[in-house]
Amino acid sequence: MFALVSFSLPAMEVLIRENPDAGCILGAKIIARVVRDKPDAVLGLATGRTPLRLYQELIRLHREEGLDFSRVTTFNLDEYVGLPGTHDQSYRYFMDENLFRHINIDRNRTHVPDGTASDLHAECRGYEQRIADAGGIDIQLLGLGRNGHIGFNEPTGSLRSRTWIKILSEQTLRDNSEVFGSLEAMPKHALTMGIGTILDARRCLLLAFGPAKVRAVEHMIEGPLAAICPGSALQLHSRATIILDENSAAGLRYADHYRWIDKHKFEWQRIK
Ligand code: F6R
Repeated sequence: MFALVSFSLPAMEVLIRENPDAGCILGAKIIARVVRDKPDAVLGLATGRTPLRLYQELIRLHREEGLDFSRVTTFNLDEYVGLPGTHDQSYRYFMDENLFRHINIDRNRTHVPDGTASDLHAECRGYEQRIADAGGIDIQLLGLGRNGHIGFNEPTGSLRSRTWIKILSEQTLRDNSEVFGSLEAMPKHALTMGIGTILDARRCLLLAFGPAKVRAVEHMIEGPLAAICPGSALQLHSRATIILDENSAAGLRYADHYRWIDKHKFEWQRIK
């Protein structure tokens, strides 16, 4: 039903909430709706600070409201090269700790690129194949880098890229190095779904909170479609929902317009 409403919405559906907490609860509601409507849904997932609260809410919905993940399949966006899933900074470990072991998902249906594969190119090709074999991604959850990256697709990477090996930018290394103790200890390479892979998802849901994301959010939503801001590629997607808080939305020229549209939606357009 939602797909029919694009006549009255901006390129992206922009939802501004008072704080990250409210934004994450809304995001969890959207994902829960997808799983309830399609119990064997394929979810694209992200790591990082942003979705943590959303995952907590999904765990709560599982425990208290019976949200069933037993037939769900997941594909994560990315993984560091060289880190095994047992490493506490690997994205596989992050997902196990922050979501998978708290819900009734079959671990064999959870996929994270293998950053320790002996042939990384084959791993990238295989990852694309596994997504295709699963029938494609129903909803892809995304965060946004301060430099506009989505997944680990750093500025100026091809907008048509498929799962590939990326060299991380200095900005990303600085942003993520805290948990590694030092910049030197951090992997400098990652495997990531490409922008083309992300755009193939039937729906995209991006969350970005806090003042550090203002410029990236502004470019992603209102700036030109350009490889310098990989997130701006979502302007091409027919069903991209962006959830912001007041801080990350502070630079948007059309913020009042997005609020207006959100407020005056038809009842059937609302996320329940
Ligand atoms: C994580 C990922 C990254 C993050 C982005 C924002 O899997 O793909 O693109 O979403 O770096 O990170 P946080 O949420 O830590 O600000």
